[in-house]
Amino acid sequence: MIQLIYVSTSANRPSEAELVDLLEQARLSNQRKNITGMLLYSNGTYLQVLEGESKDVHGLYDAIRNDPRNEGHVILREVEIPVRDFPDWSMGFENLESSSPDQLPGFIEVFGGKLDKSIALNNKTNAIRLLMSFSKNSA
Ligand SMILES: Cc1cc2nc3c(=O)[nH]c(=O)nc-3n(C[C@H](O)[C@H](O)[C@H](O)COP(=O)(O)O)c2cc1C
Repeated sequence: MIQLIYVSTSANRPSEAELVDLLEQARLSNQRKNITGMLLYSNGTYLQVLEGESKDVHGLYDAIRNDPRNEGHVILREVEIPVRDFPDWSMGFENLESSSPDQLPGFIEVFGGKLDKSIALNNKTNAIRLLMSFSKNSA
């Protein structure tokens, strides 16, 4: 199995309804492919971790890269994993704009309370830590 983490920019500012649609589709499809992970959205930026068999994760990442809803993808991490960090989530989701992100480690200090792609690229460790703070395994 592999774990792939990327950051991308949303093409337009998605509405709550558009995010819910995206998530519903993603969860159904991920269940079929045994893909798990977590998607964060804030400030026109997506940060997502995908876990599963290498061919499935790469196939999905290709589809996401070709999806006009987002662009400018950069991979932050791609590693082989013996176990999943998000075993129970076909795709967890947090809209950081409508949640209270002050509980998240370093989110205010590092990202100013909003996801930012260039900050994420310059602070990969912090970006990955932010995602992983949603994993049960992070405790
Ligand atoms: C930010 C973002 C994250 C996405 N995450 C997933 C996902 O986890 N699983 C999924 O099946 N589709 C996801 N999608 C949707 C895919 O890009 C694509 O629409 C979907 O896989 C259907 O592709 P197909 O029409 O080629 O089957 C995501 C799209 C965006 C913009």
